[in-house]
Parts: sequence; structure tokens; C-alpha cells
Amino acid sequence: MSVMEINHPLIQHKLSYLRDKNTDTKTFRETLNEIAGLMTYEATKDLKLQEIEVETPLMKTKSYVLPEKAVAVVPILRAGLGMVDGILTFIPTAKVGHIGVYRDEETLEPVYYYCKLPSDISERKVMLVDPMLATGGSAIYAIDYLKEKGVKDIVFLCLIAAPEGIAKVIDKHPDVDIYAAKIDQGLNEKSYIYPGLGDCGDRIFGTK
Ligand code: PRP
Ligand code: URA
Repeated sequence: MSVMEINHPLIQHKLSYLRDKNTDTKTFRETLNEIAGLMTYEATKDLKLQEIEVETPLMKTKSYVLPEKAVAVVPILRAGLGMVDGILTFIPTAKVGHIGVYRDEETLEPVYYYCKLPSDISERKVMLVDPMLATGGSAIYAIDYLKEKGVKDIVFLCLIAAPEGIAKVIDKHPDVDIYAAKIDQGLNEKSYIYPGLGDCGDRIFGTK
């Protein structure tokens, strides 16, 4: 298990736009996808490749490609949707599953409402994505769900993580690697991440 903060200058630069409360919805959406794409580069560095033979204009040679069933991307609805296109830019053959979980604002408990996964999900590495890891409840719920479906290889990609949420995910699922663009200071009295960026789903979709 590892927790990786991807402290790359391009990512930190773009994250500043997302934190800024004056950033408009279009820019927010585009920038979130750009960061997700950049994070994909790091989060896929251990993907297994398949050897093939190709013919260059000069000769035949060995080359390496992703196996057909390499990856599934699974966003936690809604906000996870904001990262999917950025990831698919680099892994266009990935299948996409969806898990609908929202956090009850009073109890902070995850509330399940939807799921649709690729039928061969257990044969794939799953990139579970959600921009915000706050208390960890939603991520843990989604990881539990995926494991019940037989998934063995899961990485969790988030934009901003609170130390409290990271600790809970590690405790419950020590085999899941966590990639975050930034680990923030903590949670406020309403369990929002601070300094954070506010309600990510609302900022992606222009609700509220
Ligand atoms: C947000 C976020 C995570 C969850 C994180 O979703 O996208 O799914 O909260 O909080 P947690 O770590 O304490 O569970 P939200 O419940 O606001 O739903 P939405 O994406 O539909 O807006
Ligand atoms: N969900 C969000 O969208 N933002 C937070 O800070 C915490 C949970």
C-alpha cells in the first residue's frame, strides 16, 4: 500500500484554478480533466504490458502494448465523472463503470443509489476515481463494493485528500494505492476539506 502525492508543478499550477472560488464552471471542468490526465501518467506506471511483433519500415521488432482487458475506470458519482474524460484521453480502450454514492450531509454516511460495472471487471485493474477524499466513507464503500464483485487490483485517484480520510482507507483497505494531487490540512466542522475547493460536484456541474 502506498499514498502518493503527485507534487508535479503542472498539477499544482492547475490545482490553483480549481481552488479559486471565482473559477467558472467550464474552466473548472476542463482543468479537472487535465489534472486527471496528468495523474494517469503516474498512476499507471506499473501496468503490465503484452509483447507483440510489429514491422517498422526497416525490420520486424518486438514492441509492447496494453492487454485488451488492462483497465476499467470507475468514477464515484457524481464528482468522479469530472475525471473520466481526462483519463480516457490516455487509455481510450478502458471500460467505464459507475458507482453512485453520495455523502449524507447530516450523518456523513455514504448512501448508495446506483451501480453499473463492466461484466469482466474482475479481470481488470480498476482505477477508482473521485476528486475528494474527505472522511473516506464514500471511497471505502466503493472499494468494498468492487471487492465484492471480485476486483483484486484497485488504485484510488483523487484530487484532494484529507489526512483523516487517507488514514481510514488505509486502515480498511491497505492493499489499495492512493494517488492524490494534494493532501490538504484536514476537515472542518462540517467535514469539508480545508483549504479544499468546496463542493466539487456542485462546481463541476454548476449546481447550487
Ligand atoms: C463528495 C465527493 C466524494 C465524497 C467525499 O460527493 O465527490 O464522493 O463527497 O466525502 P467522504 O470522503 O466524506 O465520503 P458528494 O457526496 O458531495 O456527492 P456528489 O458527487 O453527487 O456531489
Ligand atoms: N465533498 C466535497 O465535494 N468537498 C469536500 O470538501 C468534502 C466532500
